[in-house]
Parts: sequence; structure tokens; C-alpha cells
Amino acid sequence: MTDTRAGKQALRPHAEEAFAEELQALAAADDRPRPERWRLSPWAVSLYLLGGELPGGTVITPKYVGPRRIVEVAVSTLATDRALLLLGVPGTAKTWVSEHLAAAVSGDSTLLVQGTAGTAEEAVRYGWNYAQLLANGPSREALVPSPLMRAMSEGMTARVEELTRIPADVQDSLITILSEKTLPVPELGEEVQAVRGFNLIATANDRDRGVNELSSALRRRFNTVVLPLPESAEAEVDIVSRRVDQIGRSLDLPPAPEGAAEIRRVVTVFRELRDGVTADGRTKLKSPSGTLSTAEAISVVTGGMALAAHFGDGVLSAGDVAAGVLGAVVRDPSTDGVVWQEYLEAVVRERDGWKDFYRACREVSA
Ligand SMILES: Nc1ncnc2c1ncn2[C@@H]1O[C@H](COP(=O)(O)OP(=O)(O)O)[C@@H](O)[C@H]1O
Ligand SMILES: [Mg+2]
Repeated sequence: MTDTRAGKQALRPHAEEAFAEELQALAAADDRPRPERWRLSPWAVSLYLLGGELPGGTVITPKYVGPRRIVEVAVSTLATDRALLLLGVPGTAKTWVSEHLAAAVSGDSTLLVQGTAGTAEEAVRYGWNYAQLLANGPSREALVPSPLMRAMSEGMTARVEELTRIPADVQDSLITILSEKTLPVPELGEEVQAVRGFNLIATANDRDRGVNELSSALRRRFNTVVLPLPESAEAEVDIVSRRVDQIGRSLDLPPAPEGAAEIRRVVTVFRELRDGVTADGRTKLKSPSGTLSTAEAISVVTGGMALAAHFGDGVLSAGDVAAGVLGAVVRDPSTDGVVWQEYLEAVVRERDGWKDFYRACREVSA
């Protein structure tokens, strides 16, 4: 459990807490074989991610909206001795899926190493408590295990975020862990052996390619699953609506009735600019420099809902999302500004039923 003081709620509870009831219901209904130390069978883990209904009538909400096969491959990889690498452009739910997989498989999504250019070997292997080390010399007590080391010794799922941002030599320390399933501690003349149930989920960004390319030795230890952008506008609207609803509830925002129209609009703008062509395929467009991901659409709409709730009449309107859309599209004012203006005049202005959005966008651009 997260250390939240009496009566105070975590701003963002971990998946295993936020969805504790679903996980319990799944565990109760799950009569299929579970790999050692798994909380659920692979079948139930995939049901947790994709959503569905249990025999008793309990509804499991979908966490990941996308091809079922992707989830099945990811889950079954975790039941093998190969690690899982989730790859994709930003905002394709890599982190989200990784967290939910760890929560469902191990009941704990917090054994996490955040990859950055400054990630040191201690973060991947282990460090020392220096006061202890100086007082008593190297000992088990002085050793500070990394989340990975803990996952190994307890047979749990570890997570590494943004693997390709980690310097190559630090990445290499993962090779022994993943191939030999052991972590030597030469200072103690010992090793920590991974027990069954241990595995690793890493995420990496497509756009970081070339930053710290994975060595082929390391890549071979992973089964790579690519998370795609939502295949259709409907799927993307569905994803955004669900998340906005959840986030809105956790922020105590009133549900936005008729918000669906604005969500559809934001998603349409993002998709058209991302794809470089209007939805009807008729008009070619220039794409701006930003990614315009689903995740960004979610924050634009959430921001709009907060505006509507606190400064409007509670109904999400074009004016509440316009500034957010502009901010997401125009990242680099010198180039993206022109792209946006062209889109606004050539597409938004002419579109039936989009007058209010056009006007709102003109207002915030001015
Ligand atoms: N296919 C999808 N299904 C469900 N949620 C999605 C999907 N794509 C994006 N999201 C949402 O987008 C948000 C950001 O995803 P995140 O995991 O941070 O992206 P990434 O790590 O790939 O950059 C999450 O809140 C997630 O709910
Ligand atoms: Mg991420």
C-alpha cells in the first residue's frame, strides 16, 4: 500500500490499488493454471487488460484498447524466460500497459527503474548505504537493492522505463540479469539469483531510435511488441473518453455531458494533422512537429473539462479545448504556426458545424 497519511488520498494511486476490486474478482473467478508466483493466470491477466465480463457479472473495464493479439503476445512473453520490450511512438500506452501488466501479474507495479541519460549502474544493480558500509564494511545490511534486484529475489515483475535513454554501458548490466538470471555481488562474494516468477518489462520510444540503440546482445533477450497508434477515429475517441472520464472523476470534475462532440473534434484535428490528410482523404495537409498523441488529446480534453467546470457552465465547449489544441499543435512557433493557420483556414473554417470551433481557435491564435 502507498504510504498515504490517514484520510489523504494519493493523487494517482498505483494500478493495483485503483483497480484492486477488479483484480480481486478476477483472482476469485480464475481457475486456470497460474505460472509460479503469478497472481492470475495469463488468461485472466489478458482479460484484465482488455476488459470483459466475469461469469458472476463483474465488469472488467478495458485498460488497453487495441488488438487483442498484442496483449496476448505480451502476457505470454512474461510467462517465458524472455523479457518484454514495449516499443512505440510517444503516447501509445507503453507505460500504461507496462504498469497494468505488472499489477495483474505480480500485484505490484512499483518495482520500477526510470531510464534517463543519468541512470547509473546502482539504479539497475544495487547500491550501498554508506553509513553502514563505513561502519561495518560491506554486508548484506549495507546493501541497497535496486528494484530489479528485489524483483529477482522475490519472483516479481520489474519495470524499466525508457530503456534506450539509459547509457549503453549501464544497459549492458541488464544482459547478465536477463541471460544468466543472476546478479553477482562481488563485494560480498555472493550472487542474487532470480527466482521463478521474475521477469522484466521495458518500454522504449520509437523516436529515441539512435539515442542509445539497444545492443544486439541485449535486444535478443527481449521479445519486442510494438504498440500502434489507434487504428480508427472511433477507437481513439473511445480511448480518450474513457480516460478523461476516469481522470475527471479522480479530480472531482463533474462529468461533461455532451462532451463527446468536443472529444471527437479534438481527435479529428489530431488525426488529420498527424496523418497529413483530412479524414475524407481529399485535402493534403502539412504535419506539425509535435506527436499529437492520444495521450496529448487526453490532456487537452481534461484541461478543457477543468475550464468548463470552474469557469464555464460545466458543459465542455469549443472554447474550452481551443487553447489546448493550439498548444499541442504549435510546438515550434516558427514552423508549426504556419501549418496551423493553413489548417484552420482551409479545413476548419469550411467544415459544417465547426463554426464555433473556428471562432474559438481564431480567438486564441490572435
Ligand atoms: N490504445 C490505448 N488504450 C488505452 N489507453 C491508451 C491507448 N493509447 C493511449 N492511451 C492512454 O494514453 C495515456 C498515455 O499513455 P502512456 O502509457 O504514458 O504512453 P507512452 O508511455 O507510450 O508514451 C494513458 O493514460 C493511456 O490511458
Ligand atoms: Mg511512457
